[in-house]
Amino acid sequence: MKTLVIYYSRKGENYVGGSIKNIDKGNTEIIAEYIRDAVGADLFEVDTVKPYDKAYMTCIEEAKAELHQNARPELKEYLDDISAYDNIVVAGPCWWGTYPMAIFSQLDKLDFTDKKLFPVMTHEGSGLAGSARDLKKYCSDVGEGLAVQGGSCAGARSTVEKWAKKNLA
Ligand SMILES: Cc1cc2nc3c(=O)[nH]c(=O)nc-3n(C[C@H](O)[C@H](O)[C@H](O)COP(=O)(O)O)c2cc1C
Repeated sequence: MKTLVIYYSRKGENYVGGSIKNIDKGNTEIIAEYIRDAVGADLFEVDTVKPYDKAYMTCIEEAKAELHQNARPELKEYLDDISAYDNIVVAGPCWWGTYPMAIFSQLDKLDFTDKKLFPVMTHEGSGLAGSARDLKKYCSDVGEGLAVQGGSCAGARSTVEKWAKKNLA
């Protein structure tokens, strides 16, 4: 089984365990790399042409506006061929109850016929939130999800490995 992880992860100011901190590597990126290490997955990072604001509180408002508009922000690069993969993990932070709209900018471009999708979400309390529901709009075959609380990501290697080996190998 060959796995691709499509992920978005924001660097800069983030809310970690109750306070706002500056981070070099986003929480979801840590998890994406653990999945890669566990099952030899390929990674594709979704990145927007117009960056979200570095300031956490401004980003919160930008994300809310995008959600309400069901926006599809332009990406720096789009993946257009996933024919080599069986499993597609879609990993991202929970933003207002679902993935950042940038993830959907990418998913809209792909054909998931005969693929299996897996939701992975990092969060500060919402768990998997609406991730599985929203992936079902793209593919009927959605597997077991994995939710990791943001501040616990660095220490979650073995949890991620267990989930990855069970579901993706
Ligand atoms: C714009 C924005 C909206 C967020 N909304 C939620 C939310 O609705 N529920 C939640 O549990 N966490 C929410 N968070 C917290 C993030 O999901 C959490 O910090 C996540 O681990 C960040 O991942 P990243 O570093 O990969 O971007 C939000 C964070 C941001 C920046």
